[in-house]
Amino acid sequence: MTLQLRTRCVFLGAPGAGKGTQAKRVAAEAGIAHISTGDMLREEVRSGSALGAEAKTYMDAGKLVPDQLIIDMVKARVERPDCKAADGSSAWILDGFPRTLPQAEALDQSLTGADALTHVISFAVPEDVLMGRLTGRRTCSKCGAIWHIEHNPTKQDGVCDKCGGELTQRSDDRPEAIGKRLEVYRSQTAPLLAYYGDRGVLREIDANRSPDVVFQELLNAMQ
Ligand code: AP5
Repeated sequence: MTLQLRTRCVFLGAPGAGKGTQAKRVAAEAGIAHISTGDMLREEVRSGSALGAEAKTYMDAGKLVPDQLIIDMVKARVERPDCKAADGSSAWILDGFPRTLPQAEALDQSLTGADALTHVISFAVPEDVLMGRLTGRRTCSKCGAIWHIEHNPTKQDGVCDKCGGELTQRSDDRPEAIGKRLEVYRSQTAPLLAYYGDRGVLREIDANRSPDVVFQELLNAMQ
């Protein structure tokens, strides 16, 4: 593997752009932490915590949960030992964070010089493709693997190829919630492209190609 140990990367993109699919794969390849704020919130919901109950009302409606809640959650997460590379520096992929300007500013403030962001990758996919990706997505309830009923189906309907777990559909992958999530992306998250573009760390990739081609391009972009 030729990725730098000290990768601190943000994956930016609309719902369904393929951030989670690729973040799992790149993180496994590079041996660094994959931090998905969506997965963390869904875990809170599953655990029945007060935070999970609060977050669920926003998530099911396709809205963003409040900034401070997410910022505190990510700050605590990046302190965990799996976010440190062998040489002691921080190494992680942030998937789904930041997605508002206040979140991006909080991230900047928390990263000191030596631990600054190394890459921000924007996943470009036309909006008409995203709806089909999201309505057809299925997720393993046991290992979290991401599948698609047409683009990446399992051998047996409803059963994960990797671990035999049951596949489920996310409660925010209904057409009404997807519409709201896309609207929220356009108004609150897309402005981050200019924010990171101005800082010279942004790289856009065409993510409307096969997962293997996107993966290779990501590895090239993150060398
Ligand atoms: P989150 O879980 O982060 O959802 P999202 O950003 O809407 O992104 P998705 O997980 O839907 O899409 P993805 O880009 O990861 O695509 P995937 O790889 O799965 O957030 C959920 C909610 O939590 C938010 O709405 C919000 O309420 C809350 N939240 C989270 N973070 C927050 C924050 N920072 N601030 C506030 N609130 C926050 O792929 C999708 C499908 O496409 C899959 O079926 C996959 O198999 C398929 N696919 C992937 N790549 C390809 C390809 N190249 N070709 C064909 N199919 C593909």
